[in-house]
Amino acid sequence: MKKTMAILLGLAVASTAFLGCKKKEDVGVTRGMDRRIVIGYSQIGAESEWRTANTRSVQAAAQDWNIELRFSDAQQRQENQLKAIRTFIRQGVDIIAFSPVVETGWETVLQEVKAAGIPVILVDRGIEQGRESDLFTVFIGSDFVEEGRRIAQWLVDHMATLGRGNQNPINIAELQGTVGSAPALDRYRGFREVIEKHPNYNIIRSQTGNFTRAAGKEVMEAFLRSDGNNIHVLYAHNDDMAIGAIQAIEADGRFKPGTDIIVISIDGVKGAFEAMMAGKLNASMECNPIIGNQIMETAVKILTNQEVPKWVVSEEELFDQSNAAEAFPNRQY
Ligand code: AHR
Repeated sequence: MKKTMAILLGLAVASTAFLGCKKKEDVGVTRGMDRRIVIGYSQIGAESEWRTANTRSVQAAAQDWNIELRFSDAQQRQENQLKAIRTFIRQGVDIIAFSPVVETGWETVLQEVKAAGIPVILVDRGIEQGRESDLFTVFIGSDFVEEGRRIAQWLVDHMATLGRGNQNPINIAELQGTVGSAPALDRYRGFREVIEKHPNYNIIRSQTGNFTRAAGKEVMEAFLRSDGNNIHVLYAHNDDMAIGAIQAIEADGRFKPGTDIIVISIDGVKGAFEAMMAGKLNASMECNPIIGNQIMETAVKILTNQEVPKWVVSEEELFDQSNAAEAFPNRQY
């Protein structure tokens, strides 16, 4: 009996010792690095089709590069982003990447990141300090002002093609993105730069729909109640709001979206392509969310002291009812 007990005790001690010195799981190394790097990533939320495609792209690219991604969803709230960034500083991640929900309010936290010596990749949206600020290392994203200009120019050309270029007035209702966000401010500005050269174009309503389908629908219902007979064009700062607005126009029943009311927007998500192919949306200016690979590649370049441009600009195309069906099968988001 004594002997059996001694054997059992011996086995228990041996297995504890074995577990205690068990080797750490081998996680491998990041592509282009001699170790596995960690990126702390603060995403805005999941407000639109664009955003969910962007999140998928970031997560897939991190896997592909074998980068540990500490991903935090801010649910559209700046205070959650500030909290996440401070957590990443405490954790000593290699890189902090984030899409700022609004342009203002980042100076203090970004000074803290700088003091901690952590490089910052600004993704998708800019901050008020501008593209040259030393509060971040690289900005990867679109030129939102140019997107606003291009969709406005498309509208002017399209109205001319319809023989309505000189119609006076051409009344536009606008659904803005999240108040204070870079895409809302820039798309507002770029659109006006072009429209203001044509005095017969009038923006008669402009209100935020927060980049969501539900708010886009609700605000469009209000526009239709107050100005129904007077709206010739709806300009939405993203496709989700345009799709919500189309639902509102159809429910109202007095007008056909895409015909009686010209509907234009920005993003180029699959839902927009379906709406263009159904004749309900007239045009969508692409804003490319598939930037995960560029983010990971840039992170590795920064950490291996390679040169990186201050702004990696996304290349984008404009789609309308004439080319939507052809492009649709190849759309990734
Ligand atoms: O910052 C990019 C914008 O954010 C997209 O156009 C919009 O759909 C998203 O929510």
